Amino acid sequence: MLNKLRVLLTGGCGYIGSHTAVELMRAGSEVVIADNLVNSSASVLPRIEELGGKRVSFYNIDVCDPEALDALFEREHIDAVIHFAGLKCVPESVSKALLYYRNNLDSTMNLLERMNAHGVRYIVFSSSATVYGESNVPPLREDMPTGACTNPYGMTKHMSEIIIRDAARAEGKLGAVLLRYFNPIGADESGRIGEDPQGIPNNLLPYVAQFATGRREKLFVNGNDYPTPDGTCIRDYIHVMDLAIAHVKALDYIVGRTGCEVFNIGTGNGYSVLEVIAAFSKACGKDLKYEFAPRRAGDIPVMYADSSKAERLLGWKAERDINKMCEDTWRWQSNNPMGYEK
Ligand code: WQD
Repeated sequence: MLNKLRVLLTGGCGYIGSHTAVELMRAGSEVVIADNLVNSSASVLPRIEELGGKRVSFYNIDVCDPEALDALFEREHIDAVIHFAGLKCVPESVSKALLYYRNNLDSTMNLLERMNAHGVRYIVFSSSATVYGESNVPPLREDMPTGACTNPYGMTKHMSEIIIRDAARAEGKLGAVLLRYFNPIGADESGRIGEDPQGIPNNLLPYVAQFATGRREKLFVNGNDYPTPDGTCIRDYIHVMDLAIAHVKALDYIVGRTGCEVFNIGTGNGYSVLEVIAAFSKACGKDLKYEFAPRRAGDIPVMYADSSKAERLLGWKAERDINKMCEDTWRWQSNNPMGYEK
C-alpha cells in the first residue's frame, strides 16, 4: 500500500518530520515537505534525500496560509498528510499563549479545510502525551481523560485532537490517526540527521548531548525530591526511528478507512533523569557531572505509556532501548556539534 502513496509532511524539516520522511521513503512512499523553517533548517533536505534515496519536493510555506496550501495541493497529487507543523516550546507557550493558540489551531483548521477542498482524505496528527495532564496514573491509556494540560502548548495539542476528531465525524470521508508521542530522543543511526533545537535546549537529551560536546557549561537536574526511586522525574523515552516507523504504520492503517483513532507511541518503560544521564555517559565515554537545581514548574513526576493498542491495531512496537537511543544521539551530536548549517 505505502509504495504508491505521495505524502505531504507539514513541518517535515523538523526533528520528527525529517526522520519520518526518511522512513516513509524507505517504505516506498514519495514525500512532499511544507515548512516555514521557523524552527528548522532547509539544510536537512539534502540529507533526507541522501538517506531516503529519493528527491523531496519542498515548499517554504506557512500552513496557516490557505492560498499557499491550495497552490501546493493543485501542483502536487497528495494521498495523505502528516501534520507536524506547530510551535512546541512549553515555556514559550506560557509567555506567548495567544501566539501558540493562533498558530497551532489555525494551521490545523486551515489544513483540514484545504484537504477537504482538494479531496485529500487521510491525516496523521503529531500529538503529545502532554494532553494527559497530571491527574492520570501511569501507565497511560488512550481512554484516560485528557485536557487538564499544564501549559498552552499542551492545550493546543488537545484542542487540535478534538478539531480533527469532530471534522472526521462531520465529514464522514476523513480518515484520521492521532499519535500521542511520549519523549522522542535519538537520531537516525547514520548520524546524518538528528535533533537540532534553536537556542538553549529545554529538553533533557539535546541539552545533555550539547553538554557532552562542551557546548554547554553546566548540566542541571531539575529537582531530586520527587516521589520516585532516585528522586528525579521519570519519562517514557522513545527512539525517534521507532516513532517515525509508527507514522508509516499509522498511514498503512488509516488509508482506506474513515473515522478517527488515537494511539500512544511510547515504549512502556520509564527512565529517570539520572538513569538517562548515566546511559548517555556510557554512550559518549565521559563521566558527565551534574548539579541538582530546583524543580521545574509544570513537571509531572512520572509519565510512561501503555502502547498495547498500537501493537494490537497498528502492528507497531518500539524496538530500540535507551542505550541505542543514547548511542545514536551521541553519533549525531559528535558529528554535528553545531547542528545543521543555518
Ligand atoms: C524531562 C525531564 C525535566 C532538561 C516535554 C514536553 C512534551 C514534549 C517533550 C514537545 C524533566 C528534566 C530537562 C534539563 C533536567 N515536547 N530536565 N535538566 O518535560 O517530559 O516533555 O518535551 O513535543 O510535550 O512537555 O521532557 O526533556 O523537557 O524533561 O533535569 O536540562 O528532564 O525537568 O523532569 P518533558 P523534557
